[in-house]
Amino acid sequence: MRLMPVHRAPQQEIEAAVEVLRSGRLVAFPTETVYGLGANAGDPSAVRRVFAAKGRPGTHPLIVHLDDPKYLGRWARSVPAAAARLGEAFWPGPLTLVFERALAVHDVVTGGQDTVAVRVPAHPIAQQLLKAFGGGIAAPSANRYGHVSPTRPEHVREELGDAVQMILDGGECKIGVESAIVSVVSDPPVLLRPGSITLSQLQSVVPEIVPTSDERVPRVPGSDARHYAPGTPMHIVPDKRLEQVAAEFADNRERVAVLAMRPPARTNRLMTWINAGSKPELYAHNLYANLRTLDRTAASAILVQEVPDDEKWHAVRDRLYRAATAEKLITNDPDLAAMRAMFDEDELP
Ligand code: TXA
Ligand code: MG
Repeated sequence: MRLMPVHRAPQQEIEAAVEVLRSGRLVAFPTETVYGLGANAGDPSAVRRVFAAKGRPGTHPLIVHLDDPKYLGRWARSVPAAAARLGEAFWPGPLTLVFERALAVHDVVTGGQDTVAVRVPAHPIAQQLLKAFGGGIAAPSANRYGHVSPTRPEHVREELGDAVQMILDGGECKIGVESAIVSVVSDPPVLLRPGSITLSQLQSVVPEIVPTSDERVPRVPGSDARHYAPGTPMHIVPDKRLEQVAAEFADNRERVAVLAMRPPARTNRLMTWINAGSKPELYAHNLYANLRTLDRTAASAILVQEVPDDEKWHAVRDRLYRAATAEKLITNDPDLAAMRAMFDEDELP
């Protein structure tokens, strides 16, 4: 396995990938956030293959990737001043902007909405591919719908098998969580999805930006689609209760997997413990690979130590909460017995 990022792909490989895209097929490619599953954004039947490969509902719009903001006019109806400033500051990079769409943008790309999401990625291989292709590439993360995003080429193959014709190998993605998404359709602009670029960094360029009002309420287990999620039920547990909850599983002779920010106080043979550390960038970089590793342990549950409620952790926190099964219930309920009962009631997709 290659752990160091690969900086450029051989030109022949890029040309082969361009041929695949032109023939209406799919190419997975690295970006600095996660791997994308790319199709020619100008070819509706190619874009439909993306939805089929992922098992994704057709109403979920895709991000159009460009090598340069100068092509924005083909996709966005207009570029508001706030967007121009954000693009200037953060492109190429891990930022996606949502615009009113240009008339020529296909419905299948936007899920029938009047808006279109655009990103100019910085990864050299993504840049090589986009430049050689000479058009927009529609690409969601290269995972099955609802699953953990891929940050290594082998994750893409695990997720999608033969549904993807070609995977460009860029080794490990540097950032590891998906881009920040800002909608500039509304005034003030809204941060729809937090990413490695923090809200304050965005606000230093456009002070009006507000966080999304989608404050997620406690969910009933199984009532809502989980996203960024491993197959194993996943629960967020406060630091001080981590060993206690893990021991409950072991006492029940159940295997348990833990993603923590520190080493365990005590271990047992039914417990797999990953110490992902307390640095938000490194934690994010390893997050999805760690969840995949824990998912493979055949544990009854993955317990994730609650991460700090701090801006630097915002993107990680968002993904963890969306991946979790019954997080709020566990965080707010001090009674371990009640907690066990809740685990047992989980209905998982
Ligand atoms: O880092 C990333 O953004 C990666 C890489 C491959 O670029 N892509 C990615 O795509 O995460 P995806 O499809 O997994 O997530 C894109 C998100 C979805 O939640 C989608 O609903 C939202 O962007 N989105 C796309 N178009 C939108 C639009 N017009 N309005 C609002 N949200 C939109
Ligand atoms: Mg995704």
